[in-house]
Amino acid sequence: MENYSKICVIGLGYVGLPLAVEFSKKFNLIGYDKNKLRVNQLKKGLDVNSQLKKQDIKQKKLKLTYRKSEIKNCDIYIITVPTPVSKNKKPDLNPLKDATLTVAQNLSKGNIVILESTVYPGLTEEFLVQILESKTDLKLNKHFYVGYSPERISPGDKLRTLKNVKKVVSGSNQYSSRIIFKLYKKIINAGVYLAPSIKVAESSKILENVQRDINISLMNEASLIFDKLKIDTYEVLKAASTKWNFLKFTPGLVGGHCISVDPYYLKYKAEKAGYKPSIISSGRKVNENMTKIISNKIRLFFKRRKNNNKIRIGIMGLTFKENCPDIRNSQIFKLINLLKKKRFDIEITDPLLKISEIPKPFKKFFVNKFSKKKDCLVLATPHKEFLKYKKNYYENNLNDNSMIFDVQKVLKLNLSKKISLYSF
Ligand SMILES: NC(=O)c1ccc[n+]([C@@H]2O[C@H](COP(=O)([O-])OP(=O)(O)OC[C@H]3O[C@@H](n4cnc5c(N)ncnc54)[C@H](O)[C@@H]3O)[C@@H](O)[C@H]2O)c1
Repeated sequence: MENYSKICVIGLGYVGLPLAVEFSKKFNLIGYDKNKLRVNQLKKGLDVNSQLKKQDIKQKKLKLTYRKSEIKNCDIYIITVPTPVSKNKKPDLNPLKDATLTVAQNLSKGNIVILESTVYPGLTEEFLVQILESKTDLKLNKHFYVGYSPERISPGDKLRTLKNVKKVVSGSNQYSSRIIFKLYKKIINAGVYLAPSIKVAESSKILENVQRDINISLMNEASLIFDKLKIDTYEVLKAASTKWNFLKFTPGLVGGHCISVDPYYLKYKAEKAGYKPSIISSGRKVNENMTKIISNKIRLFFKRRKNNNKIRIGIMGLTFKENCPDIRNSQIFKLINLLKKKRFDIEITDPLLKISEIPKPFKKFFVNKFSKKKDCLVLATPHKEFLKYKKNYYENNLNDNSMIFDVQKVLKLNLSKKISLYSF
């Protein structure tokens, strides 16, 4: 461990920043991100992801840079860049390729390269090592080592943070496994689990997220069935949850950078290996379809309206998850696209976002406060700011014969006006 004193974290986003900060309490650390704006904000102590405060970011041994030339001579490189999917839902490895090429330019004998991004099984030893070996004269387990350690944080969760969740680690041989295990033990209070191989560690992470996606898809499908049967899904869940082994999942929209993406990575790899996954694909299909259920409910509700007046819809929340400013793969964008085609006049509000953060095609819908009374309110992302609203907010902001779609069924309103309350 003595020989490993300088670490470089590549990618300072939701995963990379907290990691860089924790390691900088024990090691000299260079945090590198290619996004100049992000680095400059962090240097001023501003984390727009609202994870860390100014005093957390200001660490004596933490140096931040957007210049590749400043990450030379590190002993350990940790990659935490995005692993998204392309339009046709295939792994988009471009950010990872770019980051690995950056490491290759700086790689020297004895270095360890650890990947934290979520990937399909085998990627570290196939894709990453292939780039590192082909761009240098160095050979794996002879001149340099690799490792994989998945990140388990959940955006917006202030309790289960990096230090408080057990961390899975792995290395390309016994030597690197030992070093990586010791390295993470220095910062993780909850303990470190050494997986027997990199492939096991990669697979464990992807399975965690696939399992979550499928469990939610099952609840979504159940809600569609119970809706047809005119049975209240949440009453069913309440009753079923009294059994010790019933898993407490609820229906909902699955967005974000992890759960709605990672199953496609496993599907891709499975198909390459000659197996066509059925449950994983079906789960994705059900979850991808849930915005249609909301838009159909809204359309059906207003079908009876005779006049040609525009129907005003207010969408509360645009981020993919409550109390978190992350809009990546938010299903609400899909919902807006479905609704805007019809005779609906849409406004969106989200206290966690500024207009500058809204993608261009959606800017025109964004307001700080709804301008007029609505015929429909969709409580899409129940941020704590929205949960403060009492029944008078809904009654004052809604016309008679209107509806609320409460996506996560969080509202307990006893409305006096004629307002219909819907959820999955
Ligand atoms: N967000 C989470 O809670 C979470 C949890 C577990 C795992 N993960 C996984 O971790 C990985 C990173 O996710 P994230 O949410 O931190 O992403 P992010 O978008 O918040 O951060 C990634 C950062 O990497 C930078 N970057 C991209 N390409 C780069 C390059 N070539 N060189 C240097 N910097 C580069 C970006 O500018 C960005 O700041 C993904 O694989 C994700 O699936 C994320």
